[in-house]
Amino acid sequence: MHYGGDYNPEQWPEEVWLDDVRLMREANVTMVSLGIFAWSRIQRAEGVFDFEWLDRVIDLLHENGISVDLATATASPPPWATAAYPEMLPQDENGATYWPGSRQHFAPSSPVYRRLASELVTALAERYAQHPAVVLWHVNNEYGCHLHYDYSDNARDAFRVWLREKYGTMDALNEAWGTAFWSQLYGSFDEILPPRKAPYSRNPAGMVDFRRFTSDTLLSLYTMERDIIRAAGATQPITTNFMGAFPPADYAKWAAELDVISDDSYPDPNDPESFRNAAFARDLMRSLKPDVPWILMEQSSNAVNWRPSNAPKAPGQMAALSAQAVGRGADGILFFQWRQSRRGSEKFHSAMVPHAGEHTRTRREVVDLGRTLAALPQLPVGRRDARVALLFDWENWWAIQNPDHPVVLDYAVLVQRWYNALHRQHLQVDIVRPADDLSQYSVIVGPQLYLLTDAAAENVAAFVERGGHLLVSAFSDVVDETDAFLEGGFLTRLGDTLGVRVDDFGALVAPSLVVGASSAGEIAAAVGGGGPGQAHATLDSPAGPIVGTYFAEEVRVVDAEVLGSFTDGRTAGSPALTVRSTGAGRGYYLGTIPDDAGMTALTGWVAREAGVEPVLAGLGEFVEAARRGDVLTLINHGGDTVTVDVTGTDLLSGQAVTSVTLGSFDWVMLRTP
Ligand code: GLA
Repeated sequence: MHYGGDYNPEQWPEEVWLDDVRLMREANVTMVSLGIFAWSRIQRAEGVFDFEWLDRVIDLLHENGISVDLATATASPPPWATAAYPEMLPQDENGATYWPGSRQHFAPSSPVYRRLASELVTALAERYAQHPAVVLWHVNNEYGCHLHYDYSDNARDAFRVWLREKYGTMDALNEAWGTAFWSQLYGSFDEILPPRKAPYSRNPAGMVDFRRFTSDTLLSLYTMERDIIRAAGATQPITTNFMGAFPPADYAKWAAELDVISDDSYPDPNDPESFRNAAFARDLMRSLKPDVPWILMEQSSNAVNWRPSNAPKAPGQMAALSAQAVGRGADGILFFQWRQSRRGSEKFHSAMVPHAGEHTRTRREVVDLGRTLAALPQLPVGRRDARVALLFDWENWWAIQNPDHPVVLDYAVLVQRWYNALHRQHLQVDIVRPADDLSQYSVIVGPQLYLLTDAAAENVAAFVERGGHLLVSAFSDVVDETDAFLEGGFLTRLGDTLGVRVDDFGALVAPSLVVGASSAGEIAAAVGGGGPGQAHATLDSPAGPIVGTYFAEEVRVVDAEVLGSFTDGRTAGSPALTVRSTGAGRGYYLGTIPDDAGMTALTGWVAREAGVEPVLAGLGEFVEAARRGDVLTLINHGGDTVTVDVTGTDLLSGQAVTSVTLGSFDWVMLRTP
């Protein structure tokens, strides 16, 4: 179990380093992430490296038994680099330059940036590949975090190369993008631009390709550095820190290139539901590489400094969120940052050593958590605990992001809401792509599978053939990977499994007001009366009456049983929820998107039909239960003390228990029979 944080000693005089290692030892720190933003300190000018200070820091840490997650320092190019090579700066869609003076001011496809980064990483890797303190390599930092998309000439040139490799001929690209419409036929790859500011909506297939290109380009930076590190003879694992479900980078595709997944996580302490967002990210990270425990690479010890107002974490909340990460598969808990800055942009961000001193609550909680984690035994990997999978796919996200759809959907918010419905019922969930191996699951929840490849559709259909229970909801199987409709309407590939087709989507009005609204009353109140548009649709179902939002689809039954019909509005009396049985398999289709209560009712009903049990029955919705092999983690995120009847052995005390009492933010890990 790693414990530590980002260590930026270049901000401090050397005498402070001695104090740092003393305090690290007191806090049971095992590993620090070193040098993440130290490029300008390591390389004072082109070709001029100063490693002596870094040697001294690494040696000092090593002498004190603290390992190093050594960063490649390429996330913030130094002023000499951008002064000499301004062409490496990125641009926004209006052609405005992102200037230096902050961080991440590099165009990912800039040849100059790539050369300078390679030279730095080569020098670092050759110097430290064999250093016994270095146990992990930390490539760059949060790729794309501030700068999601670059539209500079660097991107223009690289996008053309990427497209040429993908399509080979102009005819193939013109066909895939549908450029015959709106006079967009290209005669040469050299006519293509990144999707810069245009008078009206841009070619949707081109937009999806640009997002694929951006993710691939960022990934190629990672693999470039990784390969340099390996070529220098380093044998330590290599990672780069993810940011949960982060739109520009398809982490599901990236995961294969990382030895260990690491994630940064900053749930808003002021939002009583944000622990579910954190749980989603943690389950996603575990699912990306199920055989290797992941690392929580960054969290805050207390408040951050980048929200409009930055609530502190309540006493115990930081430890509770840390336990959540461990309970959901992490073998490391680290923070940004070790010692609170005295100067610079992040001086108000909390740290493991607060500016106010060692007597603070934050420092006490950091020391307590270090002691607690050090006392935990080795935990099982727990790769086969979930029987439910939630489908989540970046390419689908990028396609749904395009404008000009029947209704504006926020795919990430929707997937999170479906996840929350499962989480509230304490169902253990993996988060996977439709084309991934689904063999361990009994239930698959597939929300808004708008862009679906043939291979993914076949995989999902095969899951039902094998006896799985599949729940697909509205706006699914609409386009192929080029964002084009298929012959024969909608649900053309999943239709045989589900026994239905969709003839039309029937958007419900005021979707932006519906996001987050949790009951029919709230939605109706938000929308008001009048107009032909319907705000929501109701339907009956075996899980009780359900409020539908966004769509009341015209669902045509081909070979399915109708389980529920719309009970009001334009589609009243027509099928809303259907099932087709294939042996023991069930293919459920829902022609709308339920409100939160409906998501909970429906997913719970499907899970029960499939015989899937919650991790623990009878828990309130603010008590979280997660399984990791034979270890059960229980966390009370609510304000009231709860008592839970459960049999097991407390991992920390060694005591056998038949019930546990948890105050606010208390948690326990039990080895269970
Ligand atoms: C990100 C960065 C860190 C720091 C934190 C602050 O995660 O990687 O360098 O800026 O945010 O929350």
